[in-house]
Amino acid sequence: MSLTRVQRAAQVAGRSMAGRNTPFIYNEWYVVALSREIDRELMARTVLDRQLVLFRKEDGTPVALDNRCGHRSFPLSRSALEGDTVVCGYHGLRYDENGQCVEVPSQCSCAGISIRSYPLHQQGPVVWIWMGEPEEADISKIPAMPMLEEGWVTSEDYMPLKASYVYLHENLLDLTHLSFLHAKTFGTPDYAKADFDTDIGDGRFLLKRYVVPTRLPPVWAKPTGLEGKDAARITTSDFVSPALHIVHAQFYDISLDESERPDQRIKTAHIPTPETGTSTHYFVVHGRNFALEENEVTDFMHEQLMAAFDEDVVGLEAQEELLAARHEDDDFFEISLSADAASVAMRRYLKRRAEDEAVVREAKKKPVSVKPAAASA
Ligand code: FES
Ligand SMILES: [Fe+2]
Repeated sequence: MSLTRVQRAAQVAGRSMAGRNTPFIYNEWYVVALSREIDRELMARTVLDRQLVLFRKEDGTPVALDNRCGHRSFPLSRSALEGDTVVCGYHGLRYDENGQCVEVPSQCSCAGISIRSYPLHQQGPVVWIWMGEPEEADISKIPAMPMLEEGWVTSEDYMPLKASYVYLHENLLDLTHLSFLHAKTFGTPDYAKADFDTDIGDGRFLLKRYVVPTRLPPVWAKPTGLEGKDAARITTSDFVSPALHIVHAQFYDISLDESERPDQRIKTAHIPTPETGTSTHYFVVHGRNFALEENEVTDFMHEQLMAAFDEDVVGLEAQEELLAARHEDDDFFEISLSADAASVAMRRYLKRRAEDEAVVREAKKKPVSVKPAAASA
C-alpha cells in the first residue's frame, strides 16, 4: 500500500517522538511506591526494568536494594528481613541497608560482596527513588507537588497500567478525550471544542483549556455547589517531569463577579513510573483547597476520579494491545492534530532525553580486556 503525502509526513514526524520502544530516562526522580505500601515486609517491585526489593528499617526509613542476591540470583523479596538486614533465602548471605554483604555463613570473609542500593526520599504519601547515576542523586531536584505543601486535603491511590508511560503523559496533555473516553464520568460534550492555550518550553509543557460556559459533571458540581449552574471549568495540564504530571482545575459560577467567586481549585498529580517499556505504575495524589473538613467529599471525589482514571487505563491498555499485536511494516503512521502540539513537543523531548542519556551510558561502558592465557611450552 502506498501512503498519501499526509500519511508519509506523519510517519516521518512520528520517528522523532518517544513511544513504547524508547529507552528509559534514568536521571530523574521517580515515585517507587505509595508510602503506605512500604512496611516491614520485603516487597518486590520492578522499576525501569530493574527488579527491586523494598522495605522499611526499624526506625521507619525506607530502603530499596536490587532484588537479586549477588551470589546466585535468588530473589531477596523471598528472603527474610532480620532487623535492618536481609538474609537471602538460598544460602544465607546477609545484606545491610546499603547493599553491603555483612555475613557469609559458609566463610569468614564477605569483603567486596555487595548489591546496589538506591537513594529514596519520602514526601508525604509517596516515596521517590533515584535510579540514575549515583553521584547525580540530589533531593533538591525532586519535583514539587504543591497540593502537599499548601495545607490542602489530599488522597492517593495506585493503578497498574499495561501501557507505556509515554502514552499516559500524552493522554494528560490532550484532554479533548474527556468528551469521548470519559463521556460517562467526568467528560462533557463541549470539552473537545473548548478554546485552549499552550505553553511549550524545554522540558515543561502546559495546555490550558477553557470550558466556559459549561455544566459541571457530578464529581465537581456536587462538592462546589455548582450543580445546575452555568459554570467555568478551566483546566491546565502541566508536564512537570518525565515522572510527574499535574492537572490543575478551577471552577466558578460565571454569573458572579470575580470578587464574589469562592476560590475552589483542585490539583491532581498523575505520577507515571515506567515498570517496563510497556507497563507503568500509575500513582495518583489528588488535592483540593475547599471543603477541607468534609471527609465524605474526599471519599466521593476519590471514588469518582478513580472510576474516571480507570477509563484511561482501559483505553491505554487497548491501545497498547493493538500496537503490540501489529505486524511490523512500513505503513505505520499516526496523524497528529492541532490539539496535539504540546504532546508532540513533549514526546520529542522525552525521546531526545532518552537518546542523549543512552549515548552517555554507552560511552561510559569500559571495554573489558582479558589477558590471553600464557602459552604453555
Ligand atoms: S543465592 Fe543468595 S546466598 Fe546464595
Ligand atoms: Fe483521561
